Amino acid sequence: MSNVSKGFVDEQVDVTLDIFAEIEILKKQKNAVILAHYYQNPDIQDVADYIGDSLGLAQQAQQTNADIILFAGVHFMAETAKILNPTKKVLIPDMNAGCSLADSCPPDKFAAFKQQHPNHLVISYINCTAEIKALSDIICTSSNAVKIVESLPKEQPIIFAPDKNLGAYVNKITGRNMLLWDGACMVHEIFSLEKITKLKIQNPQAQLVAHPECEAAILDKADFIGSTTAILNYTKTNPCKEFIVATETGILHQMIKNSPEKTFIPAPPNNSCACNDCPHMKLNTLEKIYLTLKYEQPELLLSADLIEKAKKPILRMLSLS
Ligand code: 13P
Ligand code: SF4
Repeated sequence: MSNVSKGFVDEQVDVTLDIFAEIEILKKQKNAVILAHYYQNPDIQDVADYIGDSLGLAQQAQQTNADIILFAGVHFMAETAKILNPTKKVLIPDMNAGCSLADSCPPDKFAAFKQQHPNHLVISYINCTAEIKALSDIICTSSNAVKIVESLPKEQPIIFAPDKNLGAYVNKITGRNMLLWDGACMVHEIFSLEKITKLKIQNPQAQLVAHPECEAAILDKADFIGSTTAILNYTKTNPCKEFIVATETGILHQMIKNSPEKTFIPAPPNNSCACNDCPHMKLNTLEKIYLTLKYEQPELLLSADLIEKAKKPILRMLSLS
């Protein structure tokens, strides 16, 4: 019996094991699929059956025929998979893989805030807990936030949660005045405008590509703003040969794979590091994925009631996407 009291299978993996081959065998034996976010380490992306942004991953989770979904991402993403496909076994390599943005919106405080604004509809960014989704009218991701907001009449008052940076960006693009919850992502908030400005001077040909979770001062300097998938596609199709990338560094793996002739420079944060990793995403390792598949633990479980309530706003989003 495996020990998952720490939130992951706590067992030493034999260093001589061909872990890639073992994962492939387990996937076939158990009819399991590995869904991975672009922010995962390169070795995890390489064993994944599907790599994507939050929208793509939710769509894959909804459509899969596999019996087991192993979600190489963070907790809210695995929750979304379970909500969309509740008969499947959803596994997460490390239950501690949370999200600072989701944590910035506690359900009790949000419910009280919502009560103060009874005429507002609630649009929540998918980076939130299942409880927040259950309190929302419609979910969005960074791929479709503008489209979702524009699907509502201009005069409709809206609360946007939990990311104030994405909310402010969508307000700017759509000309709306949504009420913003004061949450943010720890990874995208700490890019240094000063260091990025210097990098642009040193690399005058380079284009700055940024995720809309970044602060407005960074977005104002960006040549392109989009979700991880949109940024990746932009770097593939744009003739420019150099890009400064203002999002989590995991995405560089696919950028380099797709455009080996181009140069990708991770945008530096305002601390002593040269690049910017999400500490939650990076809790997942290939060893944990192997052990999770082997023991089918830890498993993500949600109550039927919460699944029912959280599903409606996600389905509303998917029907518009
Ligand atoms: P997307 O996957 O929508 O690009 O969002 C990035 C993110 O922060 C996921 O945690
Ligand atoms: Fe959450 Fe930010 Fe990490 Fe994404 S990158 S999981 S939003 S903390």
